[in-house]
Amino acid sequence: MAGPSLYERLGGVYAVAAVVDYFSDQLVEKRTIEKNVPIKEWNAKKAAYRLPGLKFLRTLWVCAISGGPFQYTGKALGDAHFDFMLTPSEFDEVSKVLAESLDHFKVPKREKEEVLAAFEAYKPAVTAGSILR
Ligand code: HEM
Repeated sequence: MAGPSLYERLGGVYAVAAVVDYFSDQLVEKRTIEKNVPIKEWNAKKAAYRLPGLKFLRTLWVCAISGGPFQYTGKALGDAHFDFMLTPSEFDEVSKVLAESLDHFKVPKREKEEVLAAFEAYKPAVTAGSILR
């Protein structure tokens, strides 16, 4: 028997949105991976008007992939990140901030691991642009 979905165990859209909101602000505030120039420029120039939409799309993505009643209709993650030229080690730094954000909200171990694994599964797509460096 399939038990409750990850979406349900996380607490639904409001709980997911709260974590994504915090995580997304942390990345900008802590200037995570700003040695990556396109990210540094995005934080400086685009975050002001694109961060709310990015939070919405990240929330939608998590809600869809975790079994919630939503469909992710944003860009394919490979396309959305290619020009940032993200390297695998930059990806890992961002994963660390995600892990800390899940801890901040006291997300239980099992759910935390499932969210991190879903994120990690997109590492090859998200870091495909690192070939440009
Ligand atoms: C790990 C390093 C990552 C960094 C630094 C990063 C950063 C960004 C940035 C700055 C954007 C905004 C692009 C724009 O203004 O159009 C973006 C888009 C997005 N990212 Fe990431 N991202 C990372 C990984 C991921 C992963 C693993 C996921 C999901 C599992 C994800 C989900 C999204 C989504 C859903 C969008 C919006 C796509 C759209 O415009 O339709 N990101 N990311």
